[in-house]
Amino acid sequence: MLGVRLIILLCNCLVIVRVHGQRKFPPGFKFGVGTSAYQIEGAWNDDGKGESIWDHLTHNYPEKIADRTNGDVACDSYHNWKRDVEMLRELGVNMYRFSFSWSRIMPTGISNEINPAGIDYYNKLIDELIKNNIESMVTLYHWDLPQRLQELGGWTSRELIHYFKEYARVAFETFGDRVKWWTTFNEPLQTCMFSYEFDSMSPGYDFAGIPCYLCTHHLLLSHAEAVHLYRTEFQPTQKGIIGITADTSWNEPRSDSAEDRAAAERSLQFYLGWYMHPIFSKSGNYPQVMIDRVGNLSQQQGFINSRMPRFTGEEIERLKGSSDFFGINSYTTSIVYPNDAENSAHYRIPSFDHDRNAMGYQDPAWPDSGSDWLKVYPKGMYSLLSWIRSEYDNPPVYVTENGVSDRGGTKDVARIDYYNQYLNAVLDAMEEGCDVRGYVAWSLMDNFEWRAGLTERFGLYYVDYEDPARTRIAKSSAKAYANIVKTRVIDPNYYPEPDVYIPGPNSGISKTITKFILIAGFIIQVMLFY
Ligand code: NOJ
Repeated sequence: MLGVRLIILLCNCLVIVRVHGQRKFPPGFKFGVGTSAYQIEGAWNDDGKGESIWDHLTHNYPEKIADRTNGDVACDSYHNWKRDVEMLRELGVNMYRFSFSWSRIMPTGISNEINPAGIDYYNKLIDELIKNNIESMVTLYHWDLPQRLQELGGWTSRELIHYFKEYARVAFETFGDRVKWWTTFNEPLQTCMFSYEFDSMSPGYDFAGIPCYLCTHHLLLSHAEAVHLYRTEFQPTQKGIIGITADTSWNEPRSDSAEDRAAAERSLQFYLGWYMHPIFSKSGNYPQVMIDRVGNLSQQQGFINSRMPRFTGEEIERLKGSSDFFGINSYTTSIVYPNDAENSAHYRIPSFDHDRNAMGYQDPAWPDSGSDWLKVYPKGMYSLLSWIRSEYDNPPVYVTENGVSDRGGTKDVARIDYYNQYLNAVLDAMEEGCDVRGYVAWSLMDNFEWRAGLTERFGLYYVDYEDPARTRIAKSSAKAYANIVKTRVIDPNYYPEPDVYIPGPNSGISKTITKFILIAGFIIQVMLFY
């Protein structure tokens, strides 16, 4: 056909089409948006919900949250779920990724006590999604462990394998007739490393080198048990799929030297391979580089056994292949180089970072965002997807989170640019054969951003936290994303107006100019002083 060039690329079952020079996401490619229970639901103790580790942390240590806020009300989705589904319809997405609050379904986390109001809430939400032709992609665990289970030792306790499996059973039994996508865990690295090794999440311990390995071990075994339960007792009749989502920034070597490349590779194995190698590699088990490094260092440090627990042969087999898809969350890139003697002084020994033996930084030239850890480098998404393809023999991948923060406002041009660029990077990877089957933007709406509280906004919809009704307003990016979902094409010139214009903190004046004025003011003051 005149003017229409078809480039057919077989990425397993997905075909990218080029129309008038523009690439088109294939028809089978799924678009979604994501949220999580603690970040949006609020109603923290309504109708019999139990306390979670995030309720506990925010109530008892408010100083640990940047603005001393909490998720008590958040976006109040416990009451606003109908509006949430309306927004999903406006966006035209195929799927909604949200999580169950374990302690809303079982107040103590234990299945001897089920909360009917919690079941009712998720039933209503799921049914409303079905009515609107939107698939539910449910995450069983998005960081909000019931507090009672934390008191049993949290994920450092092997007991949790049993409790998680029983929680999963209740979820499959109750909702599995309608939920066809399950994710056991979201971002286990945050649950284990950033919650036990570092005081960056909840429960917020600061205990280096040991509990993060215990946590990961039990979390992976919990995942395996839940998947086997689903596959043996539910999948044959319910016919859904089940998997896990891990996260990492892309680790870009600082230079082409063998040492820098090895450091970046090692670092990726520690961040991502730690969780995905046992599930997606042919050999199973933790990455060999981790087994060797943590084992050898533990021995040098006087430990009788490796600080990283060992799987039995049976466990290795049970974990292998225990995910129907590879869920990946990624937002940014880190430039990586090897640790050296001088840097070692900065490490706690033993510690995960010392074991990892790599350091990272970000290029100051990359555009920044509302979060200090997140700088924009779209090529990192392409590189990460390509790495997954070659490392794990091209598994079916869903980008289960990607997005960018700001500090407010509804005319979010930078977010449109971010999505356009990162989605282009996804297409680049697909054109080279990566089997990427879907993309979930984070987030449907602004929400409680963990230790950053309400200060960082990731939403396509703006949430007015001053308003008791928690009104939501479509930002410019909501309309741009809806256009991509509808046309399956990224239009680089489409910058729609938001539903209501709310200025951002730096509106009319870019961050760079702000910085320039601040620095110039400082220099002038110093000059005047002298
Ligand atoms: C990943 C987490 O899953 C989500 O809860 C968080 O809000 C985003 N990253 C942004 O930091």
